[in-house]
Amino acid sequence: MPAISASAPGKIILVGEHAVVYGQPAIAVPVTQVQAKAIVTANISGDSGSVWVQAPDIGMDSSLSDLPKNSAIPKSINLVFDELGIAQPPAFKLRVTADIPKAAGMGSGASISVAIIRAVSGFLGSALADETVSALAYEVEKMHHGTPSGIDNTVVTYQKPVYFVRGQPIELLSIPNPFNLIIGNTGISSSTAVVVGDVRKAWEADKETYEAIFAAVGSLAAGARRLIETGEPEGLGPLINQNHALLIDMGVSSPELDKLVNAAQNSGALGAKLSGGGRGGNMIALVQKENVVNVAEALMAAGAINTISTLVGNEGVSR
Ligand code: PMV
Repeated sequence: MPAISASAPGKIILVGEHAVVYGQPAIAVPVTQVQAKAIVTANISGDSGSVWVQAPDIGMDSSLSDLPKNSAIPKSINLVFDELGIAQPPAFKLRVTADIPKAAGMGSGASISVAIIRAVSGFLGSALADETVSALAYEVEKMHHGTPSGIDNTVVTYQKPVYFVRGQPIELLSIPNPFNLIIGNTGISSSTAVVVGDVRKAWEADKETYEAIFAAVGSLAAGARRLIETGEPEGLGPLINQNHALLIDMGVSSPELDKLVNAAQNSGALGAKLSGGGRGGNMIALVQKENVVNVAEALMAAGAINTISTLVGNEGVSR
């Protein structure tokens, strides 16, 4: 039996993180330069039901039965067995790798789950539909933090820019005029679960203020969608800057993120903001093509550990 492999991209959130957990719209786009990959090979000499898992990035090299059931990789595999009603799979080996920065707001957890779910279900002869892949990956996301909006598993599964509202059917965005983004990495890991938890506590303590912030972010996401779909992406700049200011108000930025955002804004970016859970991880800057090099250099000078320059179009983000 040939090896079955599947990959899934990273992602960034263009507008709307955190508010999306509370029902506001958000826009996310896949980042295809970074990928998670899962490869399944049959183990013809292994006993039926035996599954070996290798994830060298995290030092995992173990039998599935010896791994804690409630951690992400075993959970992704077992969800596929449950979905397909398989109690005793043919013996196989799964190898998982990813070059998506972890705990950096780029969806590495969702991407790894989606790659595993696709590769394992493909190996078992029942490749799952996108809707099911996304739903299973959402179950794994719930382990990362209790109240995920579902935006990460959705954008990573469909690999297209999405306008996402929690609990509603997904809407893929049409992008008549592609636009350039630079992603700048602070190099600081930050747990989305912790930051989402802190926002929840702050919301519980002052619902009026937080709901006003979330609603303002939601209006920005709706406005961004209009600009993108009418082919005026340069107009997104002020809106992205306002989104960053609202994320500061929510308490999810950090001095390092603010430094990169300011550096981008001062070196010719049309707009800049943190992207993802915040307190670390990545920020994004909207740039005109002629300013890509300038802004990338300014980000490195302001402390970014690396930058990715991208073009967002209908197929997501590409070099
Ligand atoms: O996984 P991250 O760090 O990109 O964060 C996802 C976006 C949040 O809105 C902060 C959480 C969520 O579930 O939508």
